[in-house]
Amino acid sequence: MSRPTQAFIDIAALQNNLERVKTCAPTQCVMAVIKANAYGHGAILVANAIQSKVDAFAVCCLEEALELREADITTPIVLLEGSFQPDELSVIAHQDLQMVLHTPKQFEHLLKGQLSKPVNVWLKVDTGMHRLGFAPNEIERIYKILQASSQVASPICLMSHLACADDRHDNTTKKQMDIFKRLTQSLNIKEASLANSAGILGWPQTHADWVRPGIMLYGASPFVDSIANDEGLQPVMHLQSTLISIKRHRKGEAIGYGATWRCPQTMPVGVVAIGYADGYPRHAPTGTPVLVNGKRVPLVGRVSMDMITVDLRSQPNARIGDPVVLWGKNLPVEEIANLAGTIAYELLCHVSSRVKLITNN
Ligand SMILES: Cc1ncc(COP(=O)(O)O)c(C=O)c1O
Repeated sequence: MSRPTQAFIDIAALQNNLERVKTCAPTQCVMAVIKANAYGHGAILVANAIQSKVDAFAVCCLEEALELREADITTPIVLLEGSFQPDELSVIAHQDLQMVLHTPKQFEHLLKGQLSKPVNVWLKVDTGMHRLGFAPNEIERIYKILQASSQVASPICLMSHLACADDRHDNTTKKQMDIFKRLTQSLNIKEASLANSAGILGWPQTHADWVRPGIMLYGASPFVDSIANDEGLQPVMHLQSTLISIKRHRKGEAIGYGATWRCPQTMPVGVVAIGYADGYPRHAPTGTPVLVNGKRVPLVGRVSMDMITVDLRSQPNARIGDPVVLWGKNLPVEEIANLAGTIAYELLCHVSSRVKLITNN
């Protein structure tokens, strides 16, 4: 039997979450963000499941896009960081990919390139994130040069990214929206995109023409103060394993690396086949819940590379081989992330290639 560490990917939950996107943004086109292996859920698996219901996919870079094209995904694909090297441009054109344009170098290479066909461009404006994009006062000049270039397909789209939409009370989003709206109006932009999941769920005025859901598709909340269920979302990933050992230890005996936790009484301690090499967070502290046979029990001691140890005092009938859920239904990934001092995005993306992705489709 092979190692039982698996991530079950619930396609029905994914479809539910996409419907939630469409309920929030009924007239907008949907660019589903499936970069980083669809936030750990399997980019090809996710793309196949939703390609007929979305208008485009977004990935980080050319390599991620080519993996999808090689799997016969023909849906438009946007490269969120655009090109890194000038020689990527001919592949981008040839593979019918769209690129975010955010640096003067990319701009220069695009205008100089000898391309087999014009490239669709998402011109990125920095409305306040101060990460990628041209300053708002540079956009008109660049936009006009792009418009006049035979290397660039029409229409030229405008994109920006929200910095603080995960906090429903932060004023930054309003400021970003104002800058974005002013530009789209003054340049008469036909295709504009600003909203990520937090924008889609919490800031209807950010929806523009295209929405770009990432985390909400996977059934985790983008907000600091809610979990999936509060937002009408269903977790897509159910990270699971089994108990591979159960031992009774005497009062005072230490468990795991560093002997950081000692048994307060004679008790059963279970070992679960999952560790930080699988993507379970090493910083999950003692007390972090896992579900053994559907019931919460606390993790004890340090997370190892391949294993964790759990307190089975409340589950005296637990047996080797019994199922363990690390996050998913009834155990929100947001809760585990919070305890481990991180965010759901990171936990989902970090599920490693050693973990088998399984689905019921
Ligand atoms: C440019 C861009 N748009 C959209 C998204 C999706 O964001 P979220 O997962 O918060 O919906 C991301 C993710 O980081 C992004 O970088």
